[in-house]
Amino acid sequence: MGRAPAGELRIEGLGVALTRPSGDLPVLENVSLHVPAGRTAALVGASGAGKSMTAYAVLRLFPVPARITAGRILFDGVDLARLPERDLVRIRGRRIAMIFQEPGAALDPVMSIGDQVMEGIVAHFGRARARERAAEALARVGLDATIMRRYPHELSGGQRQRVLIASAIALGPSLLIADEPTAALDVTVQAQILDLLDRLRQDLGMSLLLITHDLGIVAQATDLVHVMRGGTVVESAETRRLFASPQHPYTRSLVQQAQRLGRWS
Ligand SMILES: Nc1ncnc2c1ncn2[C@@H]1O[C@H](COP(=O)(O)OP(=O)(O)OP(=O)(O)O)[C@@H](O)[C@H]1O
Ligand SMILES: [Mg+2]
Repeated sequence: MGRAPAGELRIEGLGVALTRPSGDLPVLENVSLHVPAGRTAALVGASGAGKSMTAYAVLRLFPVPARITAGRILFDGVDLARLPERDLVRIRGRRIAMIFQEPGAALDPVMSIGDQVMEGIVAHFGRARARERAAEALARVGLDATIMRRYPHELSGGQRQRVLIASAIALGPSLLIADEPTAALDVTVQAQILDLLDRLRQDLGMSLLLITHDLGIVAQATDLVHVMRGGTVVESAETRRLFASPQHPYTRSLVQQAQRLGRWS
């Protein structure tokens, strides 16, 4: 068999539990999903379905004490679920980047934009050319290098999201996981950010896992959809197919609800 194409993510039968003094509390059970190399897959579902937990599991960056209890997380054929921490450190940011859900918390208010974008670059590649690489990443997201001297509060929501995207792509990852990247933005800016992510995916040859609860975004921006409910994936399909003939009752209700709201034509 040949090598798997770069940036492919295949999660198989993933289980995650919160670890508590009183014992494990399962939050994800039998989660399976696929992000083909160079494509965009959506992970959709209501609040609390387990979308963010799934994303955290990929890089083992749980915000609460938790552990992987079952399954495989195959990134270009390598099982991250079994990878020792010292090897995972080299994958985080550099080969798989993540844009976290809380845009407010993601930027340090007292650190200049330049220093924040350079931080990851310095950690992985050293100081040499860090400023140049940061400016390059910012240019890719449509921001002028002068923004490096500014601070988060001086930026609009859309500009802040662009800075986070610049930080995420600065190390040249082959997979980008974006957790609700447009939730806090108005509709026009949302569309611009989605276009930007799509262009970066193509230009940089990345795969994209787009986490959202918005089926309008799914219809617009993705090739493949995985629908989550109650800590598991209940349906996976090509985006067109999912909207044309949703199989699972939950998916059907989601699609009907979104159609009533007129979220896409
Ligand atoms: N900080 C936490 N403490 C305890 N349980 C948590 C915590 N975060 C998540 N969970 C549990 O994990 C489940 C999945 O949460 P997760 O954050 O992955 O949902 P989500 O699909 O990302 O929701 P949202 O759309 O609101 O971001 C929750 O239903 C909850 O049971
Ligand atoms: Mg979430």
